[in-house]
Amino acid sequence: MRPTELEPASKAAAPLNETESENENQAPDLDRAVAALRQGKLVAFPTETVYGLGADAENVSAVARIFSVKGRPDNHPLIVHLASADELPRWAERVPEAARQLAAACWPGPLTLLLRKSARVPDATTGGLPSVGLRVPAHPLALELLRRFGGGVAAPSANRFGRVSPTSAAHVRADLGDDVDVLLDGGDCQVGVESTILDLSRGTPVLLRPGGVTLERIEAILGVKVSREPGDMRAPGMLASHYAPRARVEIVDSGALASRARELRLQGERVALLVSSHDDAKALANVEGATLLDLGASDDQAAQRLYAALRQADVDKADVVLASPPAAHGLGAALADRLTKAAGPRLEGPNMPHAKHR
Ligand code: TXA
Ligand code: MG
Repeated sequence: MRPTELEPASKAAAPLNETESENENQAPDLDRAVAALRQGKLVAFPTETVYGLGADAENVSAVARIFSVKGRPDNHPLIVHLASADELPRWAERVPEAARQLAAACWPGPLTLLLRKSARVPDATTGGLPSVGLRVPAHPLALELLRRFGGGVAAPSANRFGRVSPTSAAHVRADLGDDVDVLLDGGDCQVGVESTILDLSRGTPVLLRPGGVTLERIEAILGVKVSREPGDMRAPGMLASHYAPRARVEIVDSGALASRARELRLQGERVALLVSSHDDAKALANVEGATLLDLGASDDQAAQRLYAALRQADVDKADVVLASPPAAHGLGAALADRLTKAAGPRLEGPNMPHAKHR
C-alpha cells in the first residue's frame, strides 16, 4: 500500500500538519525504517501521544538495545504497538470481552490494554511480567510503519529514562541523537501526553496510568466503575521521578502562583511559570523576571504543550518551574499526574542531572 492510501486515523487524533504530500515524502524513510526493524535496529517514530523508540518486539537483542539506549532498568515492561485490533489474539493468551469493546471504541488511539501475554511475546519485552501492554497508535506514519513491518513494535517513549517525553522529532534528536538508527518525522504530537494504561489481565479493570483516553470514557464504554488502585501490581511507570526536566518543579495553588514566584525571584532563582486559563495570567504577567510558558485555554491544549514547555524551561535555564495542575478529571487527570511526577523526588544517575544551571 502506498502511504497516500492510508485510512485517516480518528479525526481528533490526526496530526494537523499531516498532509498527503508529507506522507509521500516519507516513503523512502518508511522503507528504511521497516528495513531497520527487520535488522534488529531502532526506529523512532511519531504517535499521537509522544514519539516512541521502536524495535521488533520479538527480537530479544533489539529489545535489549532499547533498554541500553534509554538507560532504563530491564524490568520495566515495554508497550507493543500493533497495526490493528485484529492482531490482538496473536499477542494475548486470551482476549476478554472488555478488551474487544475498548479496542473497537478507542483504537487507533491513546489507550494501552494490559492482557496476559501469548507465548510469542519474549520475557525481555515485558520485563519478565506475565502481561503485555498492547496498543494501536493513531498516527498515519506509525500505522503505515506497523502495517508494512507486519509484526509488533515494542516502544517506550523516545527519551532517556526518567526525563520528559518527546513530542517532536527535534526532541528525539536532542535526547537520543545517533543512538537512533532511523527517525521518522511526523510533526508535533497532537495528544501530547502518553496513552492511558488499563490493566485487563487480572479480571476487574484497573487504571494504571491516566492518559489520552479519559477514565470517564472508559467507564462509559464498559458500563462499570474502573478501579484506580494498582494493588500489588508492579507498575514501574509509576515512579515518582518520571517526566522530569532539569529544573525542579513545584506544584502551587493557582491563587498562590504569583506570590510564590515573587518569593523565589527575591531568593535569586530563575523562575518559569506554566500558565493556563485556570490561572490569573494578569497577576502572573506582573512577576518581574519570571518567564511565562503558555499552556493554552483548555486541557487538550495544555496536554499538547506540556512537555515542550517543560523542555523550554530547561532551554531558558530556569531553576524552578511553578505549575498549578487542573482538576483531576477528564484529560486533567493525566496532566495532574505528569506534573505531580515531574515534581516528585528525583532519581540519582547519569540521566538525571538536575544540578543548578548556574
Ligand atoms: O503513549 C504511550 O504509551 C507511549 C507511545 C510511544 O506509545 N509509550 C510509552 O511507553 O509511554 P513508556 O515505556 O514510556 O511507558 C509505558 C508504561 C511504563 O511505565 C511501563 O512500566 C508500563 O507502561 N507497562 C507496559 N507494559 C506493562 C505491563 N505488562 N505491566 C505493567 N506496566 C506495564
Ligand atoms: Mg516513558
